[in-house]
Amino acid sequence: MTTARVALVTGGIGGIGTAICQRLARDGFRVFANHHPSEQEAAEAWKNDQAGLGFDIDTIAGDVSSFEDSKRMIDDIQGQHGAVAVLVNCAGITRDKTFKKLDEDAWRAVIDVNLNSVYNVTRNVWEGMLAAGFGRVINISSVNGQRGQFGQTNYATAKAGMHGFTMSLAQEGAAKGITVNTVSPGYVETAMTLAMRDDVREAIVAGVPMRRMGKPEEIASAVAFLVADENGYVTGANLPVNGGLFMH
Ligand code: CAA
Repeated sequence: MTTARVALVTGGIGGIGTAICQRLARDGFRVFANHHPSEQEAAEAWKNDQAGLGFDIDTIAGDVSSFEDSKRMIDDIQGQHGAVAVLVNCAGITRDKTFKKLDEDAWRAVIDVNLNSVYNVTRNVWEGMLAAGFGRVINISSVNGQRGQFGQTNYATAKAGMHGFTMSLAQEGAAKGITVNTVSPGYVETAMTLAMRDDVREAIVAGVPMRRMGKPEEIASAVAFLVADENGYVTGANLPVNGGLFMH
């Protein structure tokens, strides 16, 4: 059994996921970075890169849009290392299209990967957290789940849904030592935002009061805050990290 607390970050080899994995590793967790099974080669290269930077982070394949594959992945981790103490649901994709062009595949893919994954993964770590009397679940949502976004009916629906999940599960975990919170990033420097058309991205960033995009490390810092033992009284919250793009 590992003595360090185990942290699982879904979408762990992505832009924001990488910064979260690094931060949790630095804070003393035994970190597992989940990736899609089709990304095996990229994950191996990623693990080597992290080792080169001094981070000992394990990678683990699992399709979080599948309940069965999520269960297999988590049974594998928990069988060897004990209960997952920290779960960061960070896996996410975009299929941005105006609604009149939004086909069923683009709707379902985003709901499955961004929202159904939250059930698939959290359900499989929940009983271990209950038994341990400790847990931290952090859902990485988006400013666009709070305010909507032209071209993102699918994505904004999934991201808003994540926070409904957070508020409900937070009530179930509150008396059991488990906190459940949402972090809602704004536009962050990652491959996902780089994939947007330059003019569309530039127009959005021009409307950010801080006049810049966020850095993945700034999202990781918010996650670290919610994970910290001393912040165990924060639950059911939605922490925006968006440069002032949306306030409420
Ligand atoms: N509000 C109102 N109208 C708008 C608009 C807006 N924000 N943006 C565009 N329009 C209008 C255009 O003026 C145009 O009007 P006409 O047809 O009358 O000329 C019409 O809508 C078509 O617009 P586009 O040219 O943008 O349509 P498109 O099909 O080429 O592009 C799109 C559609 C790809 C969805 C594009 O609008 C887009 O990229 N939107 C931004 C999506 C976005 O913010 N994605 C974030 C990705 S990163 C992420 O998701 C991480 C995170 O959490 C923040």
